[in-house]
Amino acid sequence: MDHFLYRDGQLYAEDVPVSAIADAVGTPFYVYSTATLTRHFRLFDEALDWGPHLVCFAMKSNSNQAILKVLAGLGAGMDVVSGGEYARAKAAGVPGDRIVFSGVGKTREEMRDALIGGIRQFNVESEPEMRALSEVAVSLGTKAPITLRVNPDVDAKTHEKIATGKSENKFGVPISRAREIYAEAASLPGIDVIGIDVHIGSQLTELAPFEAAYLKVAELTRDLRADGHDIRRLDLGGGLGIPYARSNEAPPLPNDYGALIQRTVGDLGCEIEIEPGRLISGNAGLMVSRAIYIKQGEDREFLILDGAMNDLIRPSMYGAYHDIIPVREPAPGVVPTPYDVVGPVCESGDTFAKGREMPPISEGDLVAFRSAGAYGAVMSSEYNTRPLIPEVLVHGDQFAVIRQRPSFDEIINRDTIPEWLEDTPVPAHQE
Ligand code: LLP
Repeated sequence: MDHFLYRDGQLYAEDVPVSAIADAVGTPFYVYSTATLTRHFRLFDEALDWGPHLVCFAMKSNSNQAILKVLAGLGAGMDVVSGGEYARAKAAGVPGDRIVFSGVGKTREEMRDALIGGIRQFNVESEPEMRALSEVAVSLGTKAPITLRVNPDVDAKTHEKIATGKSENKFGVPISRAREIYAEAASLPGIDVIGIDVHIGSQLTELAPFEAAYLKVAELTRDLRADGHDIRRLDLGGGLGIPYARSNEAPPLPNDYGALIQRTVGDLGCEIEIEPGRLISGNAGLMVSRAIYIKQGEDREFLILDGAMNDLIRPSMYGAYHDIIPVREPAPGVVPTPYDVVGPVCESGDTFAKGREMPPISEGDLVAFRSAGAYGAVMSSEYNTRPLIPEVLVHGDQFAVIRQRPSFDEIINRDTIPEWLEDTPVPAHQE
C-alpha cells in the first residue's frame, strides 16, 4: 500500500495534489511520501520483532539526505557501498555503529575513513580485501569488525543484471571455501570476525531462493562455530521485490519474509541484520512528467514526455516495467489507447514503454510513473545536458523540495577550461 491515491478526480501524494507540486517546481520531478517510507520500514522492523535485529536501509536505492533522515529517525541503520554513501549516512546523523559497509571494491581510503568515523561492520567480499582491511586497521591501532559475504550459488530468479548469488557473479567468497577463508580471517591481526553476510539479488518475487540461501548460511554458522568462531551476527542482505505491475503481481510481504528468516536461522541465537532498499523506497516515490506532444507515427502513437531515460533509466537498462498513470483521474469507462511512451533524448532506447494501454492523454497532461522511489533519482544523469530533476518530499499536507533542479549555468560551470584553451579564438564561419 502507498499514499498516492486519486481524490476528487486527481492524484494526491498524501494530502497534497500532485498537480500543485508540478505548478510549484515544474516538471519532471520525483515526489516521495513520508508515510509510505515509514510504513515500509516498520513492516520490516516488525517482521523481525521475534529477536534482536537491525534493518539497514540499502541507501543505494535512494540516498537523499531527507529520506535518510526520515528512516534514521525511525531507528534504521544504513547499508553503504562507497565512501560517498558513508559520508551521506554520517551527514544525515546516522551513528557509525548503525552503518554496514558492503561492496566488492572497497578502497583502503574508504576503509580508513570508515574505521576512523565508526562502523558497525564491513561485509568483506574477498581474501585480498580482507588482508587489506587488516593492514589498514593495524595501521590505525584497531581491529575491523567483519562478516564475510558468502556466495551460496543460488539462483535468485531475477533479472540477470541484478542477480548476485550465483558462482559466476562477482560477489562474495565461494561458500564451499568459506571455512578455510574464515580460518585465515581469524588469524589476521586487524580483523574481528563477528558473523556471516549473504545477498543473492534484487527484485526477488519468490521466497524459495532466500530459503535456499539462508539454509546454507545456517549450516555454515554451525560449521564455523564448530571451528571455534564466535558467529553472532547474520546479515541476510536485501532483495525482497515489489509489485511494479499492480494489476497482476503479488510478491511475498515483509511479514512472510520475516517468518522465513525465523524458520531458517532463528534458532541460532544470532542478531539479524537485513538490507532492504527497494521495498522501503520503491513504492514511496513517483516520477511525474508532462506530455509535450502526441505524435502520430506510421503505425503507432508516440506519447512524448518531458522526462527521459536520463531521469529514470530502469526501463532502458533492465527493460523494467513501471505503471504510468494520468494525474487527472480518468473518467469511469474510458477506453484505453496504446502509446509508445518516450522521452526527448536522442536515442531509440529512450523508451519507457511500447504499446502501453493508457487512458487517452492530451498535450500538457501530467503523468506519474509509479514505483520510482528506488533506483530512480540515484541512477539519473545529465545526459543531453538535461538538468537532474528535483526531488520533493511530502509529509501530510506539507511538501518541500529536497533536491533543487540545477540551472544551466550551474551545470556548465562545473566544467573548467585548461589555461592553454582559455584564449582560443573561435574562427568566423567560412561559407
Ligand atoms: N544489499 C546489497 C549488498 C545489495 O547489493 C543490494 C542491491 C541491496 C542490499 C538492496 O537490494 P534491494 O532490497 O533494493 O533489492 N539498479 C537496480 C537494482 C540494483 C540492486 C543492487 N544491489 C534496479 O533498478 O533494479
